[in-house]
Amino acid sequence: LGVAALVVRQRMKSSGRWARAMSILKEFEEKCGTPEGKLKQVADAMTVEMHAGLVSEGGSKLKMLISYVDNLPTGDEDGVFYALDLGGTNFRVLRVQLGGKEGGIVHQEFTEASIPPALMGGTSDALFDYIVEKLAKFVDEEEQMFHQPPGRLRELGFTFSFPVMQTSINSGTLIRWTKGFSINDTVGQDVVAELTNALKRKGVEMRVAALVNDTIGTLAGGRYTNNDVALSVILGTGTNAAYVERAQAIPKWHGPLPKSGEMVINMEWGNFRSSHLPLTEYDHALDVESLNPGEQIFEKLTSGMYLGEILRRVLLKMAEEAFFFGDEVPAKLKIPFILRTPEMSAMHHDTSSDLRVVGNKLKDTLDISNTSLKMRRVVVELCNIVATRGARLAAAGILGMLKKMGRDTKSEGGGKTVIAMDGGLYEHYTEYSKCLEYTLNELLGEEAASTISVEHSNDGSGIGAALLAASHSLYLNEKSS
Ligand code: GLC
Repeated sequence: LGVAALVVRQRMKSSGRWARAMSILKEFEEKCGTPEGKLKQVADAMTVEMHAGLVSEGGSKLKMLISYVDNLPTGDEDGVFYALDLGGTNFRVLRVQLGGKEGGIVHQEFTEASIPPALMGGTSDALFDYIVEKLAKFVDEEEQMFHQPPGRLRELGFTFSFPVMQTSINSGTLIRWTKGFSINDTVGQDVVAELTNALKRKGVEMRVAALVNDTIGTLAGGRYTNNDVALSVILGTGTNAAYVERAQAIPKWHGPLPKSGEMVINMEWGNFRSSHLPLTEYDHALDVESLNPGEQIFEKLTSGMYLGEILRRVLLKMAEEAFFFGDEVPAKLKIPFILRTPEMSAMHHDTSSDLRVVGNKLKDTLDISNTSLKMRRVVVELCNIVATRGARLAAAGILGMLKKMGRDTKSEGGGKTVIAMDGGLYEHYTEYSKCLEYTLNELLGEEAASTISVEHSNDGSGIGAALLAASHSLYLNEKSS
């Protein structure tokens, strides 16, 4: 063949490849579609499952866990409290000084550390020893700084953001791990006992006054500053939501009717699933190969641990079947979870005209160089598809909750509803959070939307745990005296 013929053949080959890549993209986009009608079906399914989960244990994929929190903070909380927040790849230790009615939060300090990946799959003792060592160091430093008298009983609120079957405000057994943790010997154990034993082993004197999920902490922290907060949503490594339910609307609750008549419910909505969810072949494969197959399907579509991984899977298919990145499939693209959501977010938000952030991220994280602008545009489009689906589904979940609470329409009394939101995905992935809020307004319609607002409850979960430790330490003291 002459040179000209070779060039023509090469062009035909590459246009065939491009067409194949585009058809993969289009098919993915169609399967991810979330038109309003579908979202309303998802919302209705969420409402139905909420009811079912409240009727009996195991009545639904939604666990609808009873938190034993029947009073949210009032603002009267007073004293110094610690909080330990374990929920994902990082954990935090906080010290909060509360000043009662007038004072509010007088002072707060915190420290943050990452959990070494090996500890996420090791033994329960190793994990809790590690956490307590960091806690002890922090407590020592703080008490020296604040000249705390020795011998004072220290109270701790423990935010443990995994599904826990609570047996009281300060005890509960781990149902299963989520978000990449898999430590078999913790499952079925009382996590407060695990923590308390580690405190003893390390000689740290502290009482765990409250065990709370991060959604409950966020709800409590949100309510402390705003009385209209009635539900909370976490969008971070994982996703979940909590809200205030009428105790009488919880058939599976056989305990005494709380004075407030209310009970906070941790939905564990990450485990929601429904035939209305737009699942693709990539989601199925991700689920099957995950540490918890068949579980946390809603979480796998919407939360930070998984969005980048979904994107990687689509890119891999394009590389394998359409030679999107050239004749060779980039080796790194085959490594699960190598493309993290923060990287995806950075690419999605690239506003440079030549999409150089996208180019750099592909190079740095996946060793893919020499991409054309056209290719980089495709990558951004994929980010958009994955993030939009996740954000719109999260909005549908919220609509489902508002319906269950009877707050999805404008009430005559003109009451307001505030949603306390937290989590790294919500905080840092702007396109995602913008899309979520836009979709929620779209679903609610203008009138109802005017009564509902979303508030970023920065770090509410840790402070919320300290606040709940404060209110429950009194209760525990009464009980023991
Ligand atoms: C996971 C956990 C849940 C937590 C959520 C957000 O879904 O199971 O308990 O609230 O992540 O951190």
